[in-house]
Amino acid sequence: MAKTPTGKNNSGRGQRDLKVKVKTARGRKLSSTRWLERQLNDPYVKRANAEGYRGRAAYKILELDDKFRFLVPGARVVDLGCAPGGWLQVAVKRVNALGEKSGKRIGTVLGVDLQEVEPVAGAMAHVLDFMEDDADQKVKEWLGGKADVVMSDMAAASSGHKQTDHLRIMALCETAAYFAFDVLEEGGTFVAKVLAGGAEGDLQKLLKQKFTKVANVKPPASRSDSSEKFVVATGFRGDS
Ligand SMILES: C[S@@+](CC[C@H](N)C(=O)[O-])C[C@H]1O[C@@H](n2cnc3c(N)ncnc32)[C@H](O)[C@@H]1O
Repeated sequence: MAKTPTGKNNSGRGQRDLKVKVKTARGRKLSSTRWLERQLNDPYVKRANAEGYRGRAAYKILELDDKFRFLVPGARVVDLGCAPGGWLQVAVKRVNALGEKSGKRIGTVLGVDLQEVEPVAGAMAHVLDFMEDDADQKVKEWLGGKADVVMSDMAAASSGHKQTDHLRIMALCETAAYFAFDVLEEGGTFVAKVLAGGAEGDLQKLLKQKFTKVANVKPPASRSDSSEKFVVATGFRGDS
């Protein structure tokens, strides 16, 4: 089970005393100074560094999986928008892609991204825009068949305009859902990042037709000041 880094050994006076303050340097914008300060004081960033994860995002999928248990040994997983690879690292461990859990089934992990990903032991990674027409065919070929889990932490490049960003991520998410319908095995799970902001109703409706259960979750690792949350749809009904 993923531990919350703000857990009992980390509270109160001690934590306040350890807070890192960053001085504004010449040439650095105030917003960059604030970002740096937040990074340096973020317990999930510290934990990711200590535990060898490529980013704090790893804890979001760990916490979602602790709750819904879709990354089981033997599962075949597709990670859309996988760079820099934190979710891949988590999936490799949980589905036993390296065969480290003896006696348990060995899973498969495949990630795709617009960017090159530094190799993650136990995972395949390909440069691919999942929106390409034949992306689903390519993924099934690389995977050697269908998947048990399609997960997406994708974000479109920010425009700085809240409503535009919201609509863009919802469009990305809806396309990811259609991709999942082509790639998932019956009974499979779809996990995707969404932004709260008004346009998520259509996606919910679509997923409710295709899956037996649809949940909306904000894992503790998701920053409270961010409007992101995750949709977890389980029990894919297949082509019916
Ligand atoms: C927030 S990052 C993912 C972080 C990742 N979950 C991790 O733990 O390292 C979002 C990624 O989505 C990718 N992305 C956005 N649109 C995409 C697309 N159409 N096809 C493939 N990847 C895409 C971006 O390149 C970016 O690397």
